[in-house]
Amino acid sequence: MELLLKGLLCVLLNTVTCEKSVVHIGGFIEVNTTDKGWNSAGIRPAIDLAVKQINNRTDILPNHTIEIHWKDTKCSDAYAIKALIEQLRKPPTKVALLGPGCSISAVPVAAASHFWNLIQMGYSAASPRLSDKTRYPLFFRINAPEIILNKAVASLLRRFDWKRIAVVKQDEDLFNDAHEHLQTMLKAEGISVIVTNSFVKDPDNVITDLKVRIT
Ligand SMILES: *[C@@H]1O[C@H](CO)[C@@H](O)[C@H](O)[C@H]1NC(C)=O
Ligand SMILES: *[C@@H]1O[C@H](CO)[C@@H](O)[C@H](O)[C@H]1NC(C)=O
Ligand SMILES: *[C@@H]1O[C@H](CO)[C@@H](O)[C@H](O)[C@H]1NC(C)=O
Repeated sequence: MELLLKGLLCVLLNTVTCEKSVVHIGGFIEVNTTDKGWNSAGIRPAIDLAVKQINNRTDILPNHTIEIHWKDTKCSDAYAIKALIEQLRKPPTKVALLGPGCSISAVPVAAASHFWNLIQMGYSAASPRLSDKTRYPLFFRINAPEIILNKAVASLLRRFDWKRIAVVKQDEDLFNDAHEHLQTMLKAEGISVIVTNSFVKDPDNVITDLKVRIT
């Protein structure tokens, strides 16, 4: 009935806008990160601009209007799951998911989103494990995984002819995975890692410890 009325109105008014159907996308972003984690809120203006431009163009999705429904995951796995449940439960029905920006949030969402047959598009989550298509079959991303940077690290070490190095990393899946990949890469290059120090929140202690150990 509602559709019929809308159709009738559109014929009467003959406006372009009401012929367009809305494509609802569930968006995940990290805004409130006072507890911890990476804040992706700065990406929001770029996404808003892209949506505005696509909606105004006649050559991309001419008969649809994109609308993104945002949820804050706070760069937390718990809030990410809460956000996913809210996206699924609350109308309108979402046809795809965008984000989350932070890997800590993106991994649990990507592990479950395929059960609802939802394509999920990442815009900054860089965890290497998100490339695993058996676990995250419908997750895709516009950015490269973190391990890409290892190539640059290896070239830098080669450039300065450094053969013995120490690694300091945060104890997060994202960096642990990248580190594992770096180790294999360095072995092939003949560079030895003399010590690896991990920290959870504050790197000060491990840096001090490293200086003591090396000197
Ligand atoms: C941010 O999130 C924390 C919980 O993670 C909450 O206690 C706090 O009130 C939130 N801040 C704002 C400004 O919403
Ligand atoms: C929409 O597109 C028209 C035609 O290309 C352009 O003149 C106008 O400035 C655009 N509006 C926005 C808000 O981008
Ligand atoms: C958009 O709608 C018009 C009018 O109904 C139709 O002629 C055209 O083929 C549609 N374009 C696409 C890409 O679906």
